[in-house]
Amino acid sequence: MTKEFAGKVALVTGGGSGIGAACARQLAEEGARVVVADMNLAGAQAVVDTILAAGGTASARQVDVSDPQAVKAMVEFAAETYGGLDCAVNNAGIGGPLKPIAEYEIDEWQHVIAVNQNSVFYCMKYEIEVMLRQAKGSIVNMSSILGTNAIANAPAYVAAKHALVGMTKSAAIAYSASGVRVNAVGPGYIRTPLVESSLDEESISGLVGLHPIGRLGTSEEVANLTLFLLSDRASFITGSYHLVDGGYAA
Ligand code: NAI
Repeated sequence: MTKEFAGKVALVTGGGSGIGAACARQLAEEGARVVVADMNLAGAQAVVDTILAAGGTASARQVDVSDPQAVKAMVEFAAETYGGLDCAVNNAGIGGPLKPIAEYEIDEWQHVIAVNQNSVFYCMKYEIEVMLRQAKGSIVNMSSILGTNAIANAPAYVAAKHALVGMTKSAAIAYSASGVRVNAVGPGYIRTPLVESSLDEESISGLVGLHPIGRLGTSEEVANLTLFLLSDRASFITGSYHLVDGGYAA
């Protein structure tokens, strides 16, 4: 049976860990040639090694997504290495400091917005350029349950994840008639290094209660939805924000 992403080229930012790594692995399993881009090159290379060992095709690329020139070079690398760009998962992100808005330092705010929000503008700008030349492409921006809901102690994160929903809709309206679909995914809490590095076990256990399904999610469960949205099965889905949250927002 032909694999769903056979012949496609995919780019995943933050692909060296957690949700991005699961997306990269699943895309490769489904036949895509994948560029695994991350600030942490060793993490990206480890994911690539797993993909290669399983018989897939992938390359690691170091990038700081908050640097527009580095993002431009990353997209060019993907397009030149594999001859185009069909799918992009703009997923790299950080949690940032946990404190309310009046205690947030200006440089802390600017850093979280740079990594979580400006980066997605840079990524879409250069990815869409390539996709328009092919008149096809599909983008998923990794927002969060905090793209609609909010918590007190992550004001910059909440702002950036809300912004991603708006940026997704704007890009979708602008480019869907040209063959480029753009959607956002909103995960509930997923047990990844991002969550484990910023919260202790007691706080992580406390988060379980926010999810009616009774547990945190897995990176694979987020990747399942992401791949569906990237695939041709989602051909009439664009400009929308899709939750994978164990019932958090219900
Ligand atoms: P993670 O920490 O496991 O992975 C994030 C990856 O992004 C890391 O490999 C890191 O090196 C990379 N990264 C960080 N800053 C970067 C930069 N400036 N340039 C390039 N790469 C950079 O985190 P996780 O949990 O897999 O998160 C992935 C995305 O999912 C993030 O955007 C996060 O906000 C979002 N998300 C995560 C949730 C969770 O509960 N884990 C819930 C909702 C959304």
